[in-house]
Amino acid sequence: MVLSEQVRPLSLALTEEHEMLLAAVRDFAQREIAPVAAEFDESGEFPLDTVRKMGAMGLMGIEMPEEYGGAGMDTLAHVLTMIEIAKADASHSTILSVNNSLYCNGILWFGTEAQKREWISPVASGEQVGAYSLTEPMSGSDAGNMASRAMLNDAGSHYIINGRKSWVTSAPYADRIVLFTMTAADNSPRPPHSDGGKNHRNITAFLIDTEQPGFSRGKTEPKLGIRASATSEIIFEDYHCPVENVLGSVGQGFKIAMTVLDAGRIGIAAQALGIAEAAYEAALIYAREREAFGAPIGSYQMIQQKIADMKTRIEAGRALIYQAVIAKERALASGGRYTTEASMAKLFCSEAAAFVTDEALQIHGGMGYSKEMPLERYYRDARITRIYEGTSEIQRMVIARRELGLR
Ligand code: CAA
Repeated sequence: MVLSEQVRPLSLALTEEHEMLLAAVRDFAQREIAPVAAEFDESGEFPLDTVRKMGAMGLMGIEMPEEYGGAGMDTLAHVLTMIEIAKADASHSTILSVNNSLYCNGILWFGTEAQKREWISPVASGEQVGAYSLTEPMSGSDAGNMASRAMLNDAGSHYIINGRKSWVTSAPYADRIVLFTMTAADNSPRPPHSDGGKNHRNITAFLIDTEQPGFSRGKTEPKLGIRASATSEIIFEDYHCPVENVLGSVGQGFKIAMTVLDAGRIGIAAQALGIAEAAYEAALIYAREREAFGAPIGSYQMIQQKIADMKTRIEAGRALIYQAVIAKERALASGGRYTTEASMAKLFCSEAAAFVTDEALQIHGGMGYSKEMPLERYYRDARITRIYEGTSEIQRMVIARRELGLR
């Protein structure tokens, strides 16, 4: 009896197109983003100029078909891009990831043709910024337990949305948002919480235009890391959303949210890997150059142990990401899920990023603790990868439940 699904052998090759993309993104990230990363981290300002440039390069909708304003590439292209952008600056990669994975994917996979044309194109091309809103002040990990609600009006033409959502990445600048909120189980014009059905089956996804009345933004979060990726609350007060802007079907919202998060988690794994690589490469240079007790510190075994452990975790993380990439492409081609692979990649890479950034900072000693060097920023930026798009605890829960056949 096969108890646990075997991991299939890896076969992933970079095409010429991938190589060209990688070279272009690496050059852009190091030339245009890395030099301003510390400044934007310090000010907490949203880097709109460089975000627009990422859009012009096709990076804001890298996996979206060209007919919807995207670059028409695949998951591997997305992952390679995320690693390079995160290496230069994690904040930029967060904005990129949410735009691509959480906003565009949901519409591509669940939207009507008209919705794809209207809602993907401006965001995939980078003219507008997209966001994804699931979390609420009183529900984070328990995402299905929401207080916000949408009620159908008597005419059946609009949903009236009320409530407060929190921790919405890019919200202060987002033009469009995929929103998840409660609707009545029978889609009637009555409060959703009175029907007693299983909560997650009453969640519906809506396409939100942030220019419309009834939408406002709350406080911007003062964050430890990824400080240039603006995050805020959003508030709905009798926001009228036309029924045409329901994404998928009424009550399908939780499935949409989870399906999209599987893709997003691969992106966050790649982001974590990029941050880890940046810290590791800095540590490698420092270990070669810095001398103590008459020799480069890299000649001492205690530093060598750190280098070996950092490198091993980075490469193990990359293998898990590539495995998730293959699983996702397979699922897109022939159905099925890649939930376990995505969660394993996200769990391992985010934990590895915490380890690597900490050890890299330690190798730098006092210099690592100083804002004169980027180590302390890598250390702060890595921290969020163990929290957003599902905490490490949630990833473990997802992996174990699927292994045990509980979901
Ligand atoms: N794909 C498709 N369907 C899925 C799924 C997936 N990955 N995961 C669950 N489902 C389905 C289940 O099959 C089930 O379907 P049925 O109704 O047919 O039975 C349904 O969803 C409910 O599943 P569960 O019973 O497993 O749901 P749960 O309430 O126990 O919660 C959870 C599951 C995995 C804990 C989920 O709540 C979760 O992922 N929580 C973390 C939320 C999260 O990641 N938040 C981050 C928000 S985004 C962000 O970070 C901000 C940003 O901008 C970067």
